[in-house]
Amino acid sequence: MSASGLWYGGDYNPEQWPEEVWAEDVKLMREAGVTMVTLGVFAWARLQPGPQEWDFGWLDVLLDQLHAHGVAVDLATATASPPAWLVRAHPELLPVTADGVRLEFGSRQHYCPSSPVYRAAAVRLARALAERYGRHPAVALWHVHNEYGDHVTECFCAESAAHFRRWLGTRYGTVEQLNSAWGTGFWSQHYRDWTEIEPPRTAPGPVNPTQVLDWRRFCSDALLECYRAEKVVLDELAPGTPVTTNFMSMFKALDYWAWAAEEDVVADDAYPDPADPTAQVGAALNYDLMRSLKGGAPWMLLEQAPSAVSWRAVNVPKRPGLQRLWSLQAVARGADAVLYFQWRASRAGAEKHHSALLPHRGTDSRGWRETVRFGAELRRLAPVVGGRSTAQVAIVLDWDSWWALELEDHPSARMRWSELLRPWYAALHRRNIAVDFLPPDGELGYYQAVLAPNLYLLRTATARRLTAYAAAGGHLVCGPFSGVVDEHDHIHLGGYPAPLREALGVVVDEWWPLPEGAEAEVVLEGGARVTATRWTEWLETEGAETVGRYGSGPLAGRPAVTRHGTAWYLSCDLGPQTGAVLDPILDRAGVTPVLAAPEGVEATLRRTPDGAEHLFLLNHTDEPVELALPEGWQRAADLLDPARTPDPALRLDPLGVAVLRR
Ligand code: GLA
Repeated sequence: MSASGLWYGGDYNPEQWPEEVWAEDVKLMREAGVTMVTLGVFAWARLQPGPQEWDFGWLDVLLDQLHAHGVAVDLATATASPPAWLVRAHPELLPVTADGVRLEFGSRQHYCPSSPVYRAAAVRLARALAERYGRHPAVALWHVHNEYGDHVTECFCAESAAHFRRWLGTRYGTVEQLNSAWGTGFWSQHYRDWTEIEPPRTAPGPVNPTQVLDWRRFCSDALLECYRAEKVVLDELAPGTPVTTNFMSMFKALDYWAWAAEEDVVADDAYPDPADPTAQVGAALNYDLMRSLKGGAPWMLLEQAPSAVSWRAVNVPKRPGLQRLWSLQAVARGADAVLYFQWRASRAGAEKHHSALLPHRGTDSRGWRETVRFGAELRRLAPVVGGRSTAQVAIVLDWDSWWALELEDHPSARMRWSELLRPWYAALHRRNIAVDFLPPDGELGYYQAVLAPNLYLLRTATARRLTAYAAAGGHLVCGPFSGVVDEHDHIHLGGYPAPLREALGVVVDEWWPLPEGAEAEVVLEGGARVTATRWTEWLETEGAETVGRYGSGPLAGRPAVTRHGTAWYLSCDLGPQTGAVLDPILDRAGVTPVLAAPEGVEATLRRTPDGAEHLFLLNHTDEPVELALPEGWQRAADLLDPARTPDPALRLDPLGVAVLRR
């Protein structure tokens, strides 16, 4: 897949329109500078109108037309929504909820991931498409399914139960091993035989937590098997063409480390909310994750909204300039593609109120003018294609730990991974400090600082590696409620955070969660006072030095933040004030920002294989800003503004962007 520039385009659903419209589509795509469309995502019923009927004629025409006009195709395997005839012939493929309700046909994504009927039909369709178009010159990328886990992440039917038992058999070998891992001595849950085991369906009270944890692992794996079955066929029949499936940013149900390993290129769908004034922080976080999933390789933004979406309670449009700014933010953070949902606004169906590159009003609309203007502008950024970024800081992200953290009956239901992570990330983002995400077994040695905002579930091997990292002088910062359980969700006995106790030089006597509205003051070294919400801990030092103490409440006077050599422990949630602890640690670690810029100005750097550096500067505020450029950048050209003359200062309009190249 090679583009002469950044890919530009979106989901194209021609099956929703009469044929007369197609020629106009292609003509307008050219006008807008579209270089790629995602074709056929929900076209199963059209492609295969009956069990033995196929209709490829329309797709033949479209692929040829698109190719003739220089538009590459990200061809979907169309397997996310089985057609009515298949569902009526095999109602058992519909998914079942934990309460035993079978979900009906009439929306989308209505299938059981373990269903052999669904799987066989999906692979058959993928095979038919790959046989026909595997070598079609228009096809630059294969798009398996669509957003695995959207709407339906799990199915509790009998077929899924049997599949779960097979999965457990592979994991544990014997029922006794399972009994020991699940702690079934508790509440009389012992199993004598595999056949007695079921998925964690709705039960009278809390379901065995390890059973639920294994279920999460199983559900991610079951969907991954569906992806893999299609990928194998595409690799066989369309060798050399990359294969992807579109992710949903920081999505709990799928372990994207495992998934990304089986993609040729990472692709994401991102829908930051224009009504949220801090949306750019969450977006940056998601984009950094996408960049990190394949070790820094460029990724593709496959979907975003040109303006409003249709699925929030209130769908605020993007004010002029915002879609440009947010698209370029994705490019700044490693995307080599800017695509949208969708090309032409639907006339009917559940998403007819969703914005599109070509709005209902047609070409005489603000939306269309932005589509054309931005397509032209994006062409100027061709030099950044393939560019990578480096980071001095890493954040450890473990899906197992995320799943375990959010199990039921914990000290506080308010400990949610995304909410714990966000303020740590925001503290880096505010200062333009580049960051990578790392899996729990990722290579730490390269980084000047490693942050673990929460590792509730901590394997001994991971703890050993973190300990070795800190012992070798790496700056390690661990957040609260970490090192609590092992991979089976069994407590690490002897004082939390047991496997990190030596590295951190602390022991927690008891968790001290704060209810909604409660706060505890924390006084930091040097006298700064910050506020903990959500969570505090009764902490004792064992060799660590106290660098912050609780200043109020039942823990007043006790340690809150500690330092042991180069290993820090933060025992509370400081929310938006987390930077008060992190900033001095990062300074001490010698971590430097990409650029010290005024508040609200985001700066990132991408280096391309030709040795050029690209400094992205994005003004997320509604005010113009002026910033002083460091020596080496003052004469750099702005790819977006060819008229820029060398100047030590740079002015950015409200929501403005510059991409300097040197
Ligand atoms: C998702 C889906 C699309 C569409 C958009 C709407 O990303 O993949 O089919 O529903 O959301 O925002």
